[in-house]
Amino acid sequence: MKTQVAIIGGGPSGLLLSQLLHQHGIDSVVLERKTRDYVLGRIRAGVLEQGLVRLMEEAGCADRLHAEGFTHDGTQISYGDEMFRVDFAALTGKPVVVYGQTEVTRDLYDAREKAGGALVFNVEDVVIHDAETDNPRVTYRVGGKAEEIRCDFVAGCDGFHGVSRKTIPDTVRREYEKVYPYGWLGILSRTRPVNDELIYANSERGFALCSMRNERLSRYYIQCPLSDRVEDWSDTAFWEELKRRIPADQAARLETGPSIEKSIAPLRSFVTEPMRWGRLFLCGDAAHIVPPTGAKGLNTAASDVHYLHNALRDYYASGSSAGIDAYSEKALARVWKTERFSWWFSSLMHRAPDQTPFDHKMQLAELAFLRSNRAAQQAMAECYVGLPY
Ligand code: APR
Ligand code: PHB
Repeated sequence: MKTQVAIIGGGPSGLLLSQLLHQHGIDSVVLERKTRDYVLGRIRAGVLEQGLVRLMEEAGCADRLHAEGFTHDGTQISYGDEMFRVDFAALTGKPVVVYGQTEVTRDLYDAREKAGGALVFNVEDVVIHDAETDNPRVTYRVGGKAEEIRCDFVAGCDGFHGVSRKTIPDTVRREYEKVYPYGWLGILSRTRPVNDELIYANSERGFALCSMRNERLSRYYIQCPLSDRVEDWSDTAFWEELKRRIPADQAARLETGPSIEKSIAPLRSFVTEPMRWGRLFLCGDAAHIVPPTGAKGLNTAASDVHYLHNALRDYYASGSSAGIDAYSEKALARVWKTERFSWWFSSLMHRAPDQTPFDHKMQLAELAFLRSNRAAQQAMAECYVGLPY
């Protein structure tokens, strides 16, 4: 098989790239190791920056997003029984859109299938060959049969556990990582969200987040020890702990109910440099991971896809390699700023096991400063709504 761009990974990065390339007449093949249903079964964060909304519009996939997404002009931040609002619209002129990232992926799958896009599921043993030459190849197995794709470029959109990143030689690849000493226990429940906006809560007992998918579907998280297992937490225990971590007036209005999904996720900051090796380009979680506190996973994948699809479009339209040559440096510049924000917000809102009373006082002082200082709120809001591409 021959194509212009072989895309490894049928998550949001790979699908968005494939659809945008299609819009510019560039052929691609998406290789996904799981099934579509498996990919869509993954519950992921639900806050979209305007940059991602614009890309979905460019990809012709924003109708449902505009119909069902919720525009949020701000967020609530609480500590103990104190709570204050950061007004994104007033501080930056931009909102965010609350819309499940699973739905983004679903919309992208629908668009690719409607356009007759080449999506290959249940692939195994994907190997990238000759990435450092002008004739890269990708081999894989599907249905027990060996296959090969000859292509001009390879996009590694296969997430943190994929094969693309490791194709870059150890002697070239540099990795930076921070593993946080806590996780997030999350539940989904068919209950009315406790507040019209998200609540990020710092409490003596640890972090909590009150989020939502729609008026009757709520998403809640509480920080938990890495040693915890999902089976350690009954729904009742979860709700009681959440109530202890949010302001009393919010706890009093919290609607509880059975969880329809419950899981624990670890928190990690991770960046790979460079994000390009010859004709292989890394996008999204294949290149970087952020703790979910700032909801930046997909939003940072989106800026990678923005840079890469524009670079490839220029290459095929004019033969210019300026965009592909600048891709890694340009993408990493924004990645590192987003990594910083996600690390800062996580450190501000969580209680590390080794946190000292002084450390906690510093958190409370920073929260009080954020509450009272417009410049501090503007800096936070600019990062939260999304730094420029
Ligand atoms: N071959 C083919 N596909 C693979 C391979 C492989 N060797 N390894 C992984 N994959 C697939 C996974 O099954 C997954 O569907 O690649 C996809 C990667 O998708 P994600 O992990 O969601 O990564 P990405 O598309 O970059 O999404 C970025 O979006 O969903 C949010 O917050 C989430 O941070 C994440 C962001
Ligand atoms: C979510 O709704 O799942 C969500 C929202 C905001 C975050 C993280 C997760 O920062």
